[in-house]
Amino acid sequence: MKKFTVLTLFPEMFAGFVTTSIIKKALERKLIAIEIVDIRDYSVGKHHQVDDYQYGGGQGMVLMLEPLVKAIRAHQTSNSLVVLLTPQGQTYQQKMAVNLANDKADLILICGHYEGFDERILHYVDLELSLGDYVLTGGELASMVVIDSIARLATDVINPESHQNDSFSEELLDYPVYTKPVTFEGHEVPAVLLSGHHQNIAQWREFKAFEKTFYKRPDLLKDKKLSELQQKWLAELEQKEN
Ligand code: ADE
Repeated sequence: MKKFTVLTLFPEMFAGFVTTSIIKKALERKLIAIEIVDIRDYSVGKHHQVDDYQYGGGQGMVLMLEPLVKAIRAHQTSNSLVVLLTPQGQTYQQKMAVNLANDKADLILICGHYEGFDERILHYVDLELSLGDYVLTGGELASMVVIDSIARLATDVINPESHQNDSFSEELLDYPVYTKPVTFEGHEVPAVLLSGHHQNIAQWREFKAFEKTFYKRPDLLKDKKLSELQQKWLAELEQKEN
């Protein structure tokens, strides 16, 4: 069972996350475990301090090293990977989610807040992850994103076959999907999906996934080894463009 330990100043942010939908089911079935740890439980001094002003002057509080290191040590095992959520980390992508899901390590996720961490925290961390090039108020949402993306891969709560079609798992976007009704305000479900012809449907889906990627995320097709069929589609789409 994969375990996620989250070190945070705001445990209440996780209340909805652990009691909803797939994550709730995965926890109930003991397919994953999530422990939310309040960094304040490891505060220092009689004022239960966890942050302080930065040396050298400047705006904003900095998370102190000692409470974080004490919290890490209290939860670390020989099987732990210590992950810092920070905009200076490597950008988190599906490939990393797959690697972490396949890895046996349990994750300790450290969520910062305020101006950031005392830089010396890097001596205690195995991996720095960023969600993307923007700054959040803290690492909590980022840690939920990381847990969510790994949990859905690491568990069989959802049909494992459904991962085969994930956007990005084959580095293509997903094919479009439709449900009832067949017509809504003049917008129709593509006829092929109603045909019952499995081979045609499969071909159409492959083409649509490719077409979607071609128009929305052409960067994903760069340097990608394309199947013969995809090369044919690429040629068709490029012709259409010109
Ligand atoms: N904390 C603040 N901003 C972040 C980001 N973009 N990714 C991960 N953690 C963060």
